[in-house]
Amino acid sequence: MNGKERGNWQSQIGFVAAAAGSAVGLGNIWKFPYITGRYGGAAFVLVYLLLIIFIGVPLMNSELLVGRKSEKNAVGAFKVLAPGTPWFIVGVMGILAGFIILSYYSVIAGWAVAYIFKSGAYMAAGAEHANIFVGSITSPLAPIIWHAIFMFMCIAIVAAGIEKGIEKYSKILMPILVLLLLVLIVRSVTLPGAGKGLAFYLKPDFSKLTAEGILAALGQAFFSLSLGMGCMITYGSYLRKKEDIPTNSYYICGADTLIAFLAGFAIFPAVFAFGLEPGAGPGLTFITVPAVFAAMGPVGHFFGILFFFLLTIAALTSAISLLEVVSAYFIDEAKWDRKKATWIMGIVIFLLGIPCSLGLGIWSNVKILGGRDILDSLDFIASNILLPLGGFLLCIFIGWYWGTNKATEEANIGAKSIKLGTTYSFLIKYLVPIAIFIVFLRSVGVF
Ligand code: PHE
Repeated sequence: MNGKERGNWQSQIGFVAAAAGSAVGLGNIWKFPYITGRYGGAAFVLVYLLLIIFIGVPLMNSELLVGRKSEKNAVGAFKVLAPGTPWFIVGVMGILAGFIILSYYSVIAGWAVAYIFKSGAYMAAGAEHANIFVGSITSPLAPIIWHAIFMFMCIAIVAAGIEKGIEKYSKILMPILVLLLLVLIVRSVTLPGAGKGLAFYLKPDFSKLTAEGILAALGQAFFSLSLGMGCMITYGSYLRKKEDIPTNSYYICGADTLIAFLAGFAIFPAVFAFGLEPGAGPGLTFITVPAVFAAMGPVGHFFGILFFFLLTIAALTSAISLLEVVSAYFIDEAKWDRKKATWIMGIVIFLLGIPCSLGLGIWSNVKILGGRDILDSLDFIASNILLPLGGFLLCIFIGWYWGTNKATEEANIGAKSIKLGTTYSFLIKYLVPIAIFIVFLRSVGVF
C-alpha cells in the first residue's frame, strides 16, 4: 500500500496538533499534578524536565523517523526495517500496550464526561465530594455507559481516517483546550491565598523525591509523551518527507511539557486558596477540584463545566491515537478496511474496559499486582513496564542493530534548522538505554 492510500497529514500544523493532541491527555491534567503533589512539587518537576530533554526528545525523534522511513504501523515498521528478525515483537508489545492503556483510559475519560453533567451534585451546599466521586465510579452500570459513550466518540473519529478524522478534530479541539486552560489559570492564580499554592508548586522539596518518585517521573515521561508503544511510529508513518522531524519533535515535547506544567498552575493555587490537600492522589481531579469549584460560589458552576470539558477533550485526542495504533496494525497487516478495523477493535477495547470499571465497585475484592485493583494493575504494567521496555528496545534497535547513521539520515530529510547528529547518536546508544535500565532495576528492587 503506498502513502496515498494509507493517508497523510495534510499540513505541519495538522500533524503537530494531532501528535501534541496524543501527548496531551489525562496524563497531563489528571496524573501530572497529583504525582507532582506526592513527590515533592518542584523537585519532581525538575527531574521530570531532565527526563523529557534527555530521554523524551531523542525517543520522540526515533519513533517518528522509524515511522516515516517504513510508512507502516508499529509492527510493520520493524518488519520493513529488519525483515526476517524477531524485532517485530517490539511492535507487538506496543499494540498490546495500546489495547491495555485504552481500555482503562476510556473508563477514566468516561468519569470526566460524566462530571461535565454532575456540577449540580458537587455544587450543592454541604456536598460530600469524596462520596460523590466514590459513588459514581463504584456503581456498576453508569460508568460503563459513560465509557461506552467515550469509546463511541473515539471510534467515530478514527474511522473517519487520518485527514478527515484525526487531523481535522485535533485542529479544532487543541486550540479550545489551550484556551480553556488559560481561562482556568487566570481564575486560579488570582484567588486570594493562591500564593501558597504557587510556593508549593515552585519551591523544590528534595526530601520528598524518593527513588520511587524518579521511577514515577520516568513512567510519567513515557506515558505523557505517548512514547514506548509505537504511537509516534504510527503517527510518523503518515508524515511526508518534506516535514521537519527534529523541529516537530521539539514542538510536540515542548507543548506536552508546557501543558502539564500549566495544569499545575490551574490546580495548586486554587487548592491552597481553599485550604485543601494537594497530594490527594488520583482523587485530586475528581474530589479536590470539584470542592474548589463549590467553594467559589455560583461561578464555580461555570468553571467546573469548563474544567471537565477540557479534561474530556484532552482525553479524546489521546484516546484516538491509542485506537489508531491498534487499527493501523489491522489495516496494514491484516488488510482490513479502516472502518472494520476501527469498529471491531474499538468494541474489543470497550469490553476489556468493563472489568477495569467493575474492579472499582462490585469486583473490588479482585486484587492483582501487589494489592492493586484491576485498573491500577493495568496502568502499572503498561506505564511502568511495557512503555519503558518498549523505549529501551527501540534504542537498542536503532543504536545497535539498524544504525544511528540510517536513523539520522532519515530524520534529516526535510530538517531545516536543527539536524540530528552525534549528540542524538550518543544519547540513543548509551545514555537513554542505560538510564532506563538503571531506573528499571531500581524499581524491581535490585538495589
Ligand atoms: N499521552 C497520553 C496522556 O498523557 C496517553 C497516551 C499514552 C496516549 C500512550 C497514547 C499513547 O494522557
